[in-house]
Amino acid sequence: MTTDRLSITVHTQADDERLSAVDDIVRGFTSEPKTLDPKFLYHGEGSELFDEITRLEEYYPTRVERSLLERHGAEIVQSVQPYDIVELGPGNSAKSGLLIGPALAAGTLRRYIPFDISEEALREGGVSLMAAYPELREIAAVVGDFWRHLREVPPTEGTRLAALLGSTIGNLHPDEQCDFLWEIREGMLGPGDAFLVGADLVKETSVIEAAYNDAKGVTAQFNLNSLRAVNDLLGLDIDTGLFRHRAFFNTEHSRIEMHLEALADVSFTLSPSGVTVDIRAGETIWTESSYKFTKEAFEGTLAAAGFANVEWYTDPDDMFALALARV
Ligand code: SAH
Ligand code: TRP
Repeated sequence: MTTDRLSITVHTQADDERLSAVDDIVRGFTSEPKTLDPKFLYHGEGSELFDEITRLEEYYPTRVERSLLERHGAEIVQSVQPYDIVELGPGNSAKSGLLIGPALAAGTLRRYIPFDISEEALREGGVSLMAAYPELREIAAVVGDFWRHLREVPPTEGTRLAALLGSTIGNLHPDEQCDFLWEIREGMLGPGDAFLVGADLVKETSVIEAAYNDAKGVTAQFNLNSLRAVNDLLGLDIDTGLFRHRAFFNTEHSRIEMHLEALADVSFTLSPSGVTVDIRAGETIWTESSYKFTKEAFEGTLAAAGFANVEWYTDPDDMFALALARV
């Protein structure tokens, strides 16, 4: 889709992409323990459910990260002077104006490139940003998968600021975090460019666990939505009522683990492979992790991916951190 200022380029509709989604599902259900790729959480209604999560009282990361961007966004973009901003996993770009606004005011920004698996979220965000920032010349949205389409991000013609907010980095396992950061630096950044990443920090377990077990049950709905994605993509009819949401902090690995626990024995057959999946009552499907970092550990991860020269922005209670790394 293209209007003169907003374009949306989709890389996830081809037949081989559908097959690869099916492959991801089959691989997850046949591994031990059973898993589901977290990207399926954002299928269909998932992006809207996530948006609702960001407004929950218990869900502190969005609130705190937003306050950090309000406080330091202008200073960050003034020091980077970006010609374009590439945002990875922006969803509906609800926080992006806190970088785009000051970058337009600094007079350097020409283009915003949001990259996400959810076309609906990108469309919603693109439309509202165009209305809010008439002086922004171009939004070039890219619908793709982090692991397959990063190289489709168009090259920059000036200084680039890449952003990965919302502690999305924490939804990857440590080895994947390093690979992904390396890929971002190698694939889309060059000398003089900068990378801004949001990381949720280790804190009292009860505070962390409450953020993933909200009283209204929105996170539970979000989690169950990944089974709806499986039903849609594989033409199945798994009864989501046979599963319940579970989220707990795993101290040893410093991560929230989110699971769907079967309340009864459940079986279904995956086509076209014909593989039968048996889930026993009490068994879980592991749908997502959210790692919580110390500054030291996260600095190590950034360094391992080749990012040195890091500046930190944190709130007074050390709930959440933004790291600005220079290439
Ligand atoms: N940055 C936003 C949203 C974070 S949620 C915020 O801070 O509130 C994570 C985002 O990453 C979602 O918008 C989701 O659609 C996207 N995402 C998850 N897995 C992805 C993948 N494999 N490829 C591309 N985008 C993905
Ligand atoms: N990056 C977000 C986080 O880790 C994603 C998220 C929000 C999430 N709520 C969730 C992931 C609930 C799993 C479950 O906080």
